[in-house]
Amino acid sequence: MTDPVFGEATWTPGSPAVREQWRLDPSVAFLNNGSFGATPRVVLDAVRSIHAEMEAEPVRFFARELPDRIALARTAVAGFLGADEPGLAFVPNATTGVNAVLRSFPWQPGDALLLADQTYNAVKQTALWISRRYGVDLQWAKLPFPLETPDQMVAPWLEAASPRTRLAVVDHVSSPTAMILPVERILSALHDQGIPVLVDGAHAPGLLPLDISALGAEFYVGNLHKWAYAAKGSAILHVCEAWRDRIQPVCISHGYGQGLRAEFDWTGTADLSPWLTAPVGLDFWRRLDRTATDGLAASNHRLVQTGRTLVAKALGTDLPHPDDPALYGPMAAMRWPAPFSGDFRQVFDLNRRLYDDHRIEVPFTAISADSPHIWLRISGQAYNRPAEYERLAEVLKSGWR
Ligand SMILES: Cc1ncc(COP(=O)(O)O)c(C=O)c1O
Repeated sequence: MTDPVFGEATWTPGSPAVREQWRLDPSVAFLNNGSFGATPRVVLDAVRSIHAEMEAEPVRFFARELPDRIALARTAVAGFLGADEPGLAFVPNATTGVNAVLRSFPWQPGDALLLADQTYNAVKQTALWISRRYGVDLQWAKLPFPLETPDQMVAPWLEAASPRTRLAVVDHVSSPTAMILPVERILSALHDQGIPVLVDGAHAPGLLPLDISALGAEFYVGNLHKWAYAAKGSAILHVCEAWRDRIQPVCISHGYGQGLRAEFDWTGTADLSPWLTAPVGLDFWRRLDRTATDGLAASNHRLVQTGRTLVAKALGTDLPHPDDPALYGPMAAMRWPAPFSGDFRQVFDLNRRLYDDHRIEVPFTAISADSPHIWLRISGQAYNRPAEYERLAEVLKSGWR
């Protein structure tokens, strides 16, 4: 069947008809969907039309229509994520979802919170605040990288845990290394020790097939605005039934005490169009998925699979993990030849200079201040062309450092 928009039965990554679906600057090789996914035009148009409705009659919109419209959007999102609807709340972003859980958790002095060295920095900072505010110790699982198999990412959690561990924050897809963690196995190991788990799935919706209820984490946070094509400001928090009345939003408002959804649906007047238009992003995702030769995930993965080999060769460094789709999806990290100084200005400077010199957007990262290496991470999204990875490889081959 020919897709009415792409004009072809199947599409090719980065073809003009596909790129046209986004508003990206054509002069930039945008290889960083992972940090901030670019929102497709169809979603931006939907946001604009919601704004028109909101401003035509703000009281009708906010006071009379909004609750039902949020509920409709939530039903669509719950279906996509396999989430149990009464436990699902919208939040503006993963950081806010993580904060809601960590700041609501009934900490006692001397408790411990388990994280990983690869935990996203904003989450590390939230944990640091919890630690100082409540006298909670932080425990760090040291995840191996480079590595050979997903199994190697299970044991470090148990090695770092102790009988004082009250909660673990486990990434679904790690930000600095792009590794997909075997969360089912990690969850089962931590649950065997009686440790509840918050899964930070900031990258997961739209990147991995999800069945959040079946996964069985006590808490699950995911962004819809990275890989699920929602407008920025669209994310979810799922809370299992046993915890629902103990998790409050970061900002308390009218709905306090009236259940998870009432509490999270209204945290003061704000532009909630990113939530309302999330189903439009999911429809777009399904359309791309249906019309890709073997699905959207495989198409995005292939871009990165080829790209990472080109880039590692140009850098003269070894690939940090085998070519196993259980380990990585549409993002991959390659080792930068120079060592990490411990000062994060070094990685920000590389990102900035590469953009300034060559208009190529890729993040450079380091796992933590004491880690020896810098990693360069590439992303693959439907709008990317293979030629963009070749452009990056050419720049690196010419000696750009
Ligand atoms: C693992 C992880 N957690 C949390 C976040 C924060 O996402 P947001 O900025 O949308 O809150 C990110 C962002 O990249 C991330 O990679």
